[in-house]
Amino acid sequence: MRAAVVTAPESPPVCADFPDPEPPPGLEALHLVGAGVHNVVRGVAAGRHYRSTNVYPLVPGIDAVARTGDGRLVYTGFAQAPWGTMAERMATPFALDLPAGADPLAIAAGINPGTSGWVALADRREEVGALDTVLVLGATGVSGSMAVQSAFALGAERVVAAGRDPEALDRLRSLGATTVSLADATPEALAAALRTAFAGTPPTLVLDYLWGWVAVAAFAALGGTGMHDDNTPGVAYVQVGSLAGDHAALPAALLRSRRFRVTGSGIGAVTKEQMLAVIPAVMLHLADGRLHAPYTAYPLSRVGDAWAHRGRTRAVVVPD
Ligand SMILES: NC(=O)c1ccc[n+]([C@@H]2O[C@H](COP(=O)([O-])OP(=O)(O)OC[C@H]3O[C@@H](n4cnc5c(N)ncnc54)[C@H](OP(=O)(O)O)[C@@H]3O)[C@@H](O)[C@H]2O)c1
Repeated sequence: MRAAVVTAPESPPVCADFPDPEPPPGLEALHLVGAGVHNVVRGVAAGRHYRSTNVYPLVPGIDAVARTGDGRLVYTGFAQAPWGTMAERMATPFALDLPAGADPLAIAAGINPGTSGWVALADRREEVGALDTVLVLGATGVSGSMAVQSAFALGAERVVAAGRDPEALDRLRSLGATTVSLADATPEALAAALRTAFAGTPPTLVLDYLWGWVAVAAFAALGGTGMHDDNTPGVAYVQVGSLAGDHAALPAALLRSRRFRVTGSGIGAVTKEQMLAVIPAVMLHLADGRLHAPYTAYPLSRVGDAWAHRGRTRAVVVPD
């Protein structure tokens, strides 16, 4: 079959022949409709991700929309390495039917970034009853923008959205978010801007796609002050991405001054079952337009261009 093939760490994929995968007993091979080039896909293929196998050659791709032998459109993923989803055919352990009328390429583009926020938002809402204020750090990327939309869809009263790109921040403001610019900010200035945006009430949930200095500034903004009891549900701080740095120093005083919990969201921290459980809701919201996943489609023969694609849309690889 034709497939995107990566032959060495940090090499972009090329379109080449690759052996067909063998489906597990009782399952059929699925036919590619569209596979998203998510950041995690590049990282795993390059050997930079904690899920990298470092066995080459490999077919990249963690998820896809595919067609079954009887013509159904399904969302699928978790192919067994060295196979991935950027191939004409894939063997995968699950297949979820797409909602009627859904744009298959928006689903291929949107499930990975969409679920990254949705899992934590839905869990926190269940835990404390209501989302109140949510802070999204790195809100201008595809995942962060979808996290802002998801927070409103799940009933957040206020969403504070921090990012660099002014046009993307404008769009988030038009959705109702309070925006904070990271462009040219110092950690001290960012902490002050976040405190102002919280307006006296810290967020119930933080979704952090950046980490590094941005997290350090957020920690400074989130610390409690004074001797009064904290009657809020506390802050659940969820680490999702680390585009601004792999490390962030956590101040001791923050952990003593309010109920503050740091966890991560990703393959490993979140079980496959938890991820699969929220995908139908995310698909429905993508299908009816409450979530928006902009994409740019590239044929498999141009997978190198899809790999190099950056910007406000998610690259999706489709068959030629
Ligand atoms: N754990 C999970 O389940 C999961 C799922 C999806 C994504 N992620 C991770 O989350 C991160 C974001 O993903 P995405 O899909 O939103 O990516 P994306 O669409 O490529 O957007 C990346 C965003 O990060 C911002 N950015 C990059 N470097 C930055 C820096 N040094 N300081 C501040 N902002 C910076 C850019 O901001 P500007 O445009 O404003 O410059 C851009 O908007 C990635 O690390 C990804 O791997 C994790």
